[in-house]
Amino acid sequence: MDGIDRREFIKLAGFGGLVFASGLPGCAHLAGPGGGDFHFLQLSDLHWGYNIASVNPDFAGTLPKAIAAVNSLDQKPDFVVFTGDLTQTTDDPKLRRARMQQVREMTSKLNVPKVWYFAGEHDAALDRGEAYQETFGETLRYTFDHKGIHFIVLDNTSDPAPILGEKQLEWLRADLAKLSRDQPIVVLTHRPLFSMYPQWDWATRDGQAAIDLLMPFPNVTVFYGHVHHENHHRTSHIAHHSALSLMFPLAPVGTVEKKTQVPWNAAAPYKGLGYRDVGAGPRREATPLEIPVKA
Ligand SMILES: [Fe+2]
Repeated sequence: MDGIDRREFIKLAGFGGLVFASGLPGCAHLAGPGGGDFHFLQLSDLHWGYNIASVNPDFAGTLPKAIAAVNSLDQKPDFVVFTGDLTQTTDDPKLRRARMQQVREMTSKLNVPKVWYFAGEHDAALDRGEAYQETFGETLRYTFDHKGIHFIVLDNTSDPAPILGEKQLEWLRADLAKLSRDQPIVVLTHRPLFSMYPQWDWATRDGQAAIDLLMPFPNVTVFYGHVHHENHHRTSHIAHHSALSLMFPLAPVGTVEKKTQVPWNAAAPYKGLGYRDVGAGPRREATPLEIPVKA
């Protein structure tokens, strides 16, 4: 476990997604002495600018708390990735930019070697990612390599359809063509690529086309946000994992008719958020959702 002791593990497990590289398909060789294991942290759906106190009275506090908690770790993650919805959507382009600037400034205080960002639909759908790119300087889709793993960031939010689009699928096809079949691949994206629950916009219309392109590769894992739930799903051998939101929980599918934010429960503060007080107990058990998945 990369030298992480139990106390540190408990701290890290309070977040949306803690990923040990040795646990990814094709990466088992990283485990064990001298194996070069590492871990990274997925944080998601900050929705900076959200201000509904009945749902999260600490709307200004959860992100700083999460940053402080990460900075208190003895074993730092190699990087933190924010999987979209950095800001709460707004029709005001000036306010959108101000919120993004605040996120950038606050997250620059993360004491980790690298922070990766990409846009959610709250950030990018109203201006096709213009403000996002101005502020973060990253393209909406990109790849990077880290210690033997090829990371692919897919943009399924700047086109409000919502689609990846032909151009991006062609880009993905060209990128994959350069890789050997046994290359471990991690895909990072905002919406689920599979059709989780389209009635609530929990899907990417042409996500299956990306899954089809990835299918010949045996070592692929997808991490995403958007649904504000921890969910684990497989399309054939490809695992898809979502992370909780740092800002507001959503009621599970099947419990309510319309997508609904869950009111704050003073008896269980921060419940359902990807942040909780560190050291509060053992790893939270995942509660897989009963979600009807389209074939
Ligand atoms: Fe979100």
